[in-house]
Parts: sequence; structure tokens; C-alpha cells
Amino acid sequence: MRSRPLQAFIFLLSSAKNVHAHSWVEQLSVIASNGTFVGTPGYPRGNVLRTASDFSDTTMTYLIPPSSRANVTLVLPSDKLCKDTQQEQIQTAGSARLQASAGDAVALRYQENGHVTLPWNQPGKPANRGTVYVYGTTEPKVGEKILDVHGAWTSDGTGGDGRGVLLSKQNFDDGRCYQINSGNISQARQQEYPHQANQLMGADMWCQQDIKLPSTAPTGKLYTLYWVWDWPTLPGVDPTYPHGKTEIYTTCMDVNVVASTSQQKGNIQDEYATGQDLNKAAIPSEFADLDDVSEAAETTTARTSSTPSSSIPYVPQSTSTLYLTSTEVVRVITVTAWKTTEKTVTVGGCEATPTGTPSTGDSTRLKRRDWRA
Ligand SMILES: *[C@@H]1O[C@H](CO)[C@@H](O)[C@H](O)[C@H]1NC(C)=O
Ligand SMILES: *[C@@H]1O[C@H](CO)[C@@H](O)[C@H](O)[C@H]1NC(C)=O
Ligand SMILES: *[C@@H]1O[C@H](CO)[C@@H](O)[C@H](O)[C@H]1NC(C)=O
Repeated sequence: MRSRPLQAFIFLLSSAKNVHAHSWVEQLSVIASNGTFVGTPGYPRGNVLRTASDFSDTTMTYLIPPSSRANVTLVLPSDKLCKDTQQEQIQTAGSARLQASAGDAVALRYQENGHVTLPWNQPGKPANRGTVYVYGTTEPKVGEKILDVHGAWTSDGTGGDGRGVLLSKQNFDDGRCYQINSGNISQARQQEYPHQANQLMGADMWCQQDIKLPSTAPTGKLYTLYWVWDWPTLPGVDPTYPHGKTEIYTTCMDVNVVASTSQQKGNIQDEYATGQDLNKAAIPSEFADLDDVSEAAETTTARTSSTPSSSIPYVPQSTSTLYLTSTEVVRVITVTAWKTTEKTVTVGGCEATPTGTPSTGDSTRLKRRDWRA
């Protein structure tokens, strides 16, 4: 058994090595009503643990468009949503599926790998470090195409082919996560969000996206989650990419939907426990904002909870990515309000107001119909 300091040191080394790596969902956890992770964690399809002998970042990252494509902004209708090792609903040994009940809150955790704490490494990226989306379906397809899901499925389930829903849309930067490095952002967050280094994260603090499984997810079946990190380079900033660059990473995973236990983990009306261990705690602002997509389609309500304080002075920013494909133009407007868990709620094809509370008035209205122009 290694001592804690030695473990932390080893993880520091491995973190430093991963500065240019990209991100994927590494672990899923059910969140109890007080905001604490409970139960046994779950893993994506075809998972390769970092501790596995054959692990490298490329065993888990999946990039769209592929780096082999000459046109760096082009997403094709034939582009698959899931990595080849994540096409089927299969788990690898030692990386079991998450067991959760319909309506449970679930944290999807990923490493920021410097994309949050060393933003100057990639010029032209959005201030929120890109936007993460989680789509859910009971009818996944082998060979699922990204354009059939991303920018197509909506929170009311009417978008695209109607097979699935948009469950969540958040900033990649959850406001808390950091990798240990000497950059000022990491230094500030290490002060603000201290935690005991553990075997899983080392001294780093992983990012998370907190979602709620639909209360209608059928028990005894698998519920599929598609995580999509949309991280475009804006045009005209990086001379290498005068027209910008489309850069999307995905992780595909399933949850075993089981009958609710007596502990009743999914009641999110309860209070978030303040001062809890950050190694296994939900992000308060995201957690407070979870609602059931199947019940939330008709109204948009102002969120009253406060967001965590931060010294990071980024301003709200709006970005957009244009996917021009051979058959259609799909315009994805990504409206981000810094530090708020802005969510899109569709009201019968009309405009909807994000439920966040950004500090400036612009870029806060999102017109769903603009998603396809
Ligand atoms: C690359 O794709 C974009 C659409 O994303 C298109 O507007 C542009 O014309 C393409 N460039 C070339 C050189 O084909
Ligand atoms: C980090 O440094 C950059 C560049 O000097 C500055 O713009 C930013 O406000 C700093 N952030 C923090 C959290 O200190
Ligand atoms: C939150 O609730 C869970 C499940 O009941 C419990 O295991 C955990 O200790 C609680 N967390 C705190 C900080 O009280």
C-alpha cells in the first residue's frame, strides 16, 4: 500500500503529462438528495480505466470531425456519434454500468486536462471552455449519427426523429474543477475548493455535469446517455484556423434503471449539505437546477438559488458553431452565461428563456428554432 503523499505525487506526474489530452466521461455516480455521491460508481461503454495496462488517452477520446478530415469545420451526416469501442451497449471487466432509478440525479465526471485552468493553450476557444450536452434515449442505435442527435433532440422530445431528449446543457467548466498546475486559475481554485487527494482524482478536482434521469425511464431496462462536448475554435483568432474549427468529443454510456430502493436517493427537494467533502459532492448550482424534462416542457422559471462565488472574472459570452454538411445546414447557437446553469427549455417551438441569471442582459434569450436555420 502506497502512502498518500506518494500517491498524490504519482498523480501529479500523470496529470502534468496529460496537459494536452482531451476529455471524456470517466465515471458516473448517483447523487443523494443532500448532494453527496452515493452507491457504486458506473462507467461508460467499452471503458478503459486509467490504471489498465493498455490505457492511453486515445482509448477513450473520440473526436468529431476526425483529425484526418482536411476541412476542419465540416461535420458530415455520416459522422458517428459514438467511438467505435462504444457503439454497442457493452461494459468491460471492472467497469460496470451505473445502477440508478428513474428520476435519480447523476453526476458525470471528467477531467479538465488544462482546458479550464490553462485556457491560453488553445486560442479562440469559448470562455466557458465549450458546452457539454447530455442527450438521453431508450432507443439508441448502433451507428448513431451525431447530426441526428446533437442540435436535433430537444428537451421536450419533439426534436429530430423524436427518439430522445436533451437532458442537460452546461458549461464545460463547472466553476470548481482544476488540474494541479502553476497557472493562476488553478492556484485560485486550489485555495477556494480544497480537498483531500484521493486515489481516483489525485490532487486534481474533476469537473462534473449533473443531470436527472427522466422519471419516465422504464425500470428493468437500459437508459442511454450521450455526452457531447462542443468546443469550437472561433474564426479569426488562431491564424492556423482562419475559419475556425469544429471540435467535438463524445462519450456514450448506459445506465441500468433499477427499482427505487428504500433509501430513496432521488428526492432532489432536500437541502444540499454545505461544507461537505468535495471529493463526492455535486455542484450546488447544477444540482439546484435539476428538473425533469418530461415535466418541464411548458414553463420556464427563474432560478432562485445562488451560484458559487468565484474569482474568475470571465464575462458571459455567446458563441456559435456552423456545421455545413453536404445535405443541410445546422446552426447551433451556444448561449452561455458564465457560472449559471443555463438550460434550454422548449415551449412548443417558441422562444424560451434560459433559467440562469447572467449578470448582463444580452445573450440570454435562446430561440430554439434558431438551432436549425
Ligand atoms: C469546409 O466546410 C465549411 C462548412 O463547415 C464550408 O463552408 C467550406 O466551404 C468548406 N471548405 C472547403 C475548402 O471545402
Ligand atoms: C489569471 O491571469 C490572467 C492573465 O493575467 C488574468 O486575466 C486573470 O484574471 C487571472 N485569473 C485569476 C483567477 O487570477
Ligand atoms: C448525504 O446523504 C447520504 C445518503 O443518505 C449519506 O450517506 C451522506 O453521509 C450524507 N452527506 C452528508 C454530508 O451529510
